[in-house]
Formats: sequence, C-alpha cells, structure tokens
Amino acid sequence: MKKRIGVLTGGGDCPGLNAVLRVITKTAIQDFGMEVYGFEDGYAGLVENRFRPLSSWDVSGILTLGGTILGTSNRANPFKYPILKKQKLTYRDLSNQALRHYRKLGLEAIIAIGGDGTLSIASHLMKMGFNMVGVPKTIDNDLKGTDFTFGFDSAVAIVTEAMDRIHTTAESHHRVMIVEVMGRYAGWIALYGGMAGGGDIILIPEIPFDFKKVFSKIKERHKMGKNFSIVVVAEGAYPFRGHQIVKQKVKGSPDPIRLGGISALLSEKIEKKTGFESRFTVLGHLQRGGSPTAFDRILATRFGYEALQLIVKGDFGKMVALQGNEIESIPIEQAIGDLKKVPLDHPLIKVGRSLGISFGN
Ligand code: F6P
Repeated sequence: MKKRIGVLTGGGDCPGLNAVLRVITKTAIQDFGMEVYGFEDGYAGLVENRFRPLSSWDVSGILTLGGTILGTSNRANPFKYPILKKQKLTYRDLSNQALRHYRKLGLEAIIAIGGDGTLSIASHLMKMGFNMVGVPKTIDNDLKGTDFTFGFDSAVAIVTEAMDRIHTTAESHHRVMIVEVMGRYAGWIALYGGMAGGGDIILIPEIPFDFKKVFSKIKERHKMGKNFSIVVVAEGAYPFRGHQIVKQKVKGSPDPIRLGGISALLSEKIEKKTGFESRFTVLGHLQRGGSPTAFDRILATRFGYEALQLIVKGDFGKMVALQGNEIESIPIEQAIGDLKKVPLDHPLIKVGRSLGISFGN
C-alpha cells in the first residue's frame, strides 16, 4: 500500500506557502511514490474532514503564487474549536474527532506549515498520537530556532519598495513621512525594512521610544539641511512608560489582539511638537500579499524538501529550521512558546546607530 501523508497551512497567509506545497507534493509522489492529502483551511480541514488529494499537476505553476491554494485559518484550533450557533460563539475540544479522521485516512504523518500558533497545536497533537512535522512560516520572523522564516524577506521587500516611493513625497514636500509596518510583538520587519529603505528613525517594540528623542532627531536633520524625514514604526512599537496600541480584538482567535495605530499618534505629535508637516501610511496586509521573493521561494523549497525527508526517516515532532546556511531540524517544542525578538545587540542596530539612524532612545 502507498504511504499517505497530509499537509496543511495554518495561521496568517504569506508568500512562499505554495512553494512548500509544491515541493512536498512533487517529491513525495515522484521520489517516494506517496500520496499527498491537502487539508483545507488549516486545522479546520482536519477537524471537519475536508481535504483533497494533491497531484503533481495540482501544484504545477504555483511556485510564484502568493497565499495558499489550500486556504488557511488562524481560529481553527482542534482543542478549542469555535462553533457559531444562532450567532453565539462557543468552543469545543474536537481533537479526538481530528484524530479519528487522521486514523481513518491512514496518514503516516502531517506536515503543518505555520507560525507559533500552528506549531503549538502540532506539538499538542503529537502528544495525542499524531505524527507531525513542522515548517516555519511568518512574515514576522519571530519563531525561535530558525534564523529566518519564509515570508519575511518578501514582506521586507514590499516595505523597502514602499519606502522608496514615500521618499519622493517626503523630499518634494519637506514632510515627515511615517510608515507603519507589521510584525506583532517583534521589530524584525521594521528593522530590516527600515535599514533597506533608508529610514531616518526606526522604532521597534524591543526599544521603547522617547517622543522627545524622535522630535529632536527630526529637528536636528532640518538644521543640517535635510528638510524631510522618514520614520519606520513597527505596529508593536510603543513609547517608554506607554503601551502598545490595540486596533482590534478578533473574537475566536487564539491570539485575539491586533496591533495598529501608532503611526497616527506619532504623526499628530510630530506635527504639533516640531511644526513640520507629517503624513502616515499603514502598509497593513500589502506586506503579506503577492509573489514571494527569490530568497523566499528557495527557502520555502528547501524547507518543504527537508520536512519530507524527516517523514521518510520517521523523525517526527521536528521542525525544519534555517541555521546559518544549513537546513537543520529541531524539536517543535524548542520553536514555540516565547517569541524570537530582535536582540538589543543585533548588528543592524549597531550599524544603524553608526549611520546616525535614531532608534528613539
Ligand atoms: O503574524 C502575521 C501578521 O500579519 C502580523 O504581522 C499582524 O499583526 C497580524 O498577522 C495581522 O493579523 P490578521 O491578518 O488576522 O489581521
């Protein structure tokens, strides 16, 4: 009998997911004669038994495609499954139902492609008897154990392009332009995007900022003859002795807090305190859309290939990870729990300071 494996994409979408699905499916079929079943909408497909067999043909031509052909969900936790009845939201533990589906399908293992939430669920499923292998994805790059997740480079490329475009208006109108980027509680996108896009001030959650330092940096630039400034602010950045701005609370989400709004506050204060005209742009979900960069296509492809090799070896409960230039595997437990934040001694912060970039402190 042919070996059969499952695959699912969970959490927020990001460029590169389809590249992983492509390599897993093609290699499983062509090199190992396996069957591949794709669960729809993340763990929802496993709980509700919604899946489709994937052929090489199904995954042909999707390398460059953003999003995920399987669909995804960041609410479908089998252990706390949201059920909406008569407009009332309740939760049930449907993990046993998921296990029944897994067994009935005769799956050897499931490859879960996702971030902290998806991989935490994978780790709990392992304890119930599922064989799981993880592939790390997130534009936020905040997963421990891997130097980079795929999706991050694509998001940084979008931020960089946006900053290049915003520069022209900043210079022409002598304005202070603020670009708010995603990243949740970590400042990776702001740091890399800000450095690549030539930001003058970069504000990240790891370094609570001082408004006065931000104002004085802008005034100092104007005095030097640079009568415009670009500020890159992470959605999770917050002022010293202040707090993060919550934009929205998403019912039914395991992580209901959605951050956002700091750029509007900054813009208002900058205009008031410096007298310079200011505008803000929230890049939002543009950062998660579109085609993956070459780096992400390759990283996603390497990750997917190695995840499949782990299944072939029967090495379950592992997540593939980029360490240096090598693809390694680590226990899923080592990647989840607390997030990988930007260390305060990160080389880019050091270089940034030497370049005269302010980090708001
Ligand atoms: O984790 C990826 C991410 O895009 C974060 O950067 C952002 O804060 C969040 O997801 C947005 O979530 P949603 O798509 O549910 O609004």
